[in-house]
Amino acid sequence: MEIIHISAECYPVAKVGGLADVVGALPKYQNKLGHIAKVVVPAYDTKFIRENDFEVTYDAWGNYGNNHFQYRILKEKTNKLGFDLYIIHIQGLTDRPNVYGYFDDTERFMAFQIATLDWIVQWEHRPDVIHCHDHHTGLVPFMVANSIKYQSISSVPTVLTIHNAQYQGQFGWDKLYYIPGFDLWKSGLLEWKKDINPLAAAIKCAWRVTTVSPSYLEEMSTNARGLESLLRQERGKSIGILNGIDNEVWDPQTDPMLEKSYTIKTVEAGKLANKTALCNVFGLDPSKPLFTFIGRLVDEKGADLLPDIFYTALQQHGDNINVLVLGSGDSWVEGRLNQLKEIFEGRYNAYIGYNEQLSHQIYAGADFLIMPSRVEPCGLNQLYALRYGTVPVVRRIGGLKDTVIDIGDDGFGICHDQTTIGDVTHAISRAVELYNDKKKFKAVRKTMMQIDHSWDKAAQQYIELYQILK
Ligand code: ADP
Ligand code: GLC
Repeated sequence: MEIIHISAECYPVAKVGGLADVVGALPKYQNKLGHIAKVVVPAYDTKFIRENDFEVTYDAWGNYGNNHFQYRILKEKTNKLGFDLYIIHIQGLTDRPNVYGYFDDTERFMAFQIATLDWIVQWEHRPDVIHCHDHHTGLVPFMVANSIKYQSISSVPTVLTIHNAQYQGQFGWDKLYYIPGFDLWKSGLLEWKKDINPLAAAIKCAWRVTTVSPSYLEEMSTNARGLESLLRQERGKSIGILNGIDNEVWDPQTDPMLEKSYTIKTVEAGKLANKTALCNVFGLDPSKPLFTFIGRLVDEKGADLLPDIFYTALQQHGDNINVLVLGSGDSWVEGRLNQLKEIFEGRYNAYIGYNEQLSHQIYAGADFLIMPSRVEPCGLNQLYALRYGTVPVVRRIGGLKDTVIDIGDDGFGICHDQTTIGDVTHAISRAVELYNDKKKFKAVRKTMMQIDHSWDKAAQQYIELYQILK
């Protein structure tokens, strides 16, 4: 089958979070299964794009309404990522350093989606499926089905994967004219709660909807930022497929970013070497358990509670624990996390910012990774932690619930029910107990490192889903 993935992010081309990791890995695994999976992303001004070689595949003008733009489709020359990577350079719109956060994001992603379809529609052959990811590409299923200029591909099945329904990309009806011509009586397909809502439009128009874990699909019937009833209505065509991880990028045995590589057999010495190096850099004590948080500092991750959680835990456990945070986001949270550095010097540190290499070093060097998420569609951090022998301390929600089993149930993680300071600090105390039970701690590490979360299984599940649509 030939599958076209359209996405705003793709690791290592452009990454903000887990969406990039998924789009950078799933297509590779689909190709390994003998299919042709291609990826299309906007050409931002990122290091990967500046440092790699691309050839021009297509050069044209497009328009959203009466706004004209010049764009160029470039293909990465060496199949470096294990799939054909196409980037769309749109003059003045995509060529900026960040993926999101500009005043004209609606226009940027509108132009990106239109350029992508204008290009596909003039191919000599038809792809077997167009796979869209999140709201940035959410108008594609509507346009493929309804825009007159895309009529020749209207029979191509579209699939939407919801990575995160917290963001929906809504905009006002004054911009309806951006969308290439269609019968106006179909406008209802674009609407949700009085706005044009790209995520809702995709849920209505895609042939199939997937979520990145089965539990997230369940939860969305009652908690999906206003889309609950729509998801209940479209439940018949929806399925939860648990994300995998790229076992080649995330492998403690070969990871070039680590101080020392290790396997299940050498995990104790390997983790100690990585922990010692990390603690030296951040002024922490490697003989004490190291707790960490890695992620976007936003409410859905429970980040607003982190300062109080760490303050309380560091008070409760005195000199007996270390904490290291890596993250960026809400500036109020960033400020409070920075303040703790002075109060708990030698026991707490934080790196505020984005740092891919440091994240690998932390997964390898930490003992525990905490994820007190309020919403977690899948979560990849806990899967990386498992692979690197770091015990996940997670709230039982979404993908965390589907991937982490509590040590009390013969599992390998520590789970709690609520995103509250009390629940999380209690979980931290249980983690300290586990750390002090050396025999059990070693056994838990070995168990979790044996779990296979690679994309093999999920890549096949997606293929089976597409095949039903043929
Ligand atoms: P989300 O996509 O909601 O942010 P995921 O758990 O799916 O959450 O994926 C987060 C990804 O982003 C992981 O690869 C994680 O290591 C990475 N990440 C998050 N914040 C940072 C950061 N500050 N520095 C480096 N990597 C980060
Ligand atoms: C989203 C979700 C996260 C998920 C990721 C990849 O950003 O917040 O839980 O792991 O997408 O699917």
